[in-house]
Amino acid sequence: MASAAASPFGFPAVWLRHNCPCPDCRDPVTGQRLVDITQLSNGPLATVTAELADSIEVTFAPDGHRSVFSRAWLAASALPDTDAGADARTEDGKVLWRAASPGAVPAADWAAYRADDSVRLSLLDAVARYGAGLLRGVPTAEGMVTAVAETFGYVRETNYGRIFDVRVVADPANLAFTSQAIAPHTDNPYRDPVPTLQLLHCLRDASVGGDTVLADGFAAAAALRDADPVSFAVLTSTPIPFAYVDKETSLTACQPLIALNPRGRICCVRLNNRSMQPVRLRYAEAEAFYAAYRAWTAIVARHEFALGLRLAPGDCLVFDNTRILHARTAFAAAPSPSPDPGADPASSTPASTGSGERHLQGCYADLDGLLSTRAVLRRDRPPANR
Ligand code: FE2
Repeated sequence: MASAAASPFGFPAVWLRHNCPCPDCRDPVTGQRLVDITQLSNGPLATVTAELADSIEVTFAPDGHRSVFSRAWLAASALPDTDAGADARTEDGKVLWRAASPGAVPAADWAAYRADDSVRLSLLDAVARYGAGLLRGVPTAEGMVTAVAETFGYVRETNYGRIFDVRVVADPANLAFTSQAIAPHTDNPYRDPVPTLQLLHCLRDASVGGDTVLADGFAAAAALRDADPVSFAVLTSTPIPFAYVDKETSLTACQPLIALNPRGRICCVRLNNRSMQPVRLRYAEAEAFYAAYRAWTAIVARHEFALGLRLAPGDCLVFDNTRILHARTAFAAAPSPSPDPGADPASSTPASTGSGERHLQGCYADLDGLLSTRAVLRRDRPPANR
């Protein structure tokens, strides 16, 4: 019938054979692959043996296996001409922003988000593409932050519990639980894997100060790459140790401050001066690291990247902890009692000791769950609205 070729339609024959959709090669219920690459001949030949309006039949040599591929699927699966295939997890799949960029942190109303899937999809899309989204009007009840996380994924429980309270306590285990200013950082770099999403729900704001500041770490890292490629190269190639230790916990992880995907594109940033451990590098490498670390910290702190957000009661921020650096300005507050570290944080949080005392509740979640919910919402929408 048609011509024999090793690579019909721009696909290697082995690629087509490996992606055969027939019931012997793919489980019809789950769609999961049944054949193993070692079961297939090395260097098969593919021949087009039938051409229909919407599909093409290919017969492979030497095993004679027949596959039918839809033309639409082949068109959608076309191999790229370059190796620049965008990886949505990296800077290539993001909208990079600066403080002055309009709409850097898209917002939605909680009631509309709950009632309308298109609003929910828009907010999840904002977190995926801009790194952050803000829900307004979330009820200021303790524990609501986990209800927000459960609208798109799963709470990531840690040694801090399902929920952590960000407010002043008498014996803080973390500077977050004081009224001090906190420099731009990512959370939990001492954890492997790091929580990829953080939620912060404002129950009460401070009368003065306590503003939240966000910066796009991918935009800052890209700016560092342009301005100081030597520092960028050091930061992407030097694993740095982080740790958190308390009575019941001893967490350590060693990762570069700027991580690249296998194509060399920015895919994760880390910065947390409080929990960075002494680097154990050769003398010259330690000097080079400190120069690069200084450059990275300085660029992140630039005004051009620092977007100030004053969270009001009912605001719940959802952000990508592998990309967005967060900070807070200092505020004045009287300490409230230390939480009982052994108790369930969702149910045992002590009552506030003063009006105007800043109180945020946070939890961690993971980006893969959010991206899955976004994909399902997209898939289930009418084609015209996708
Ligand atoms: Fe934090």
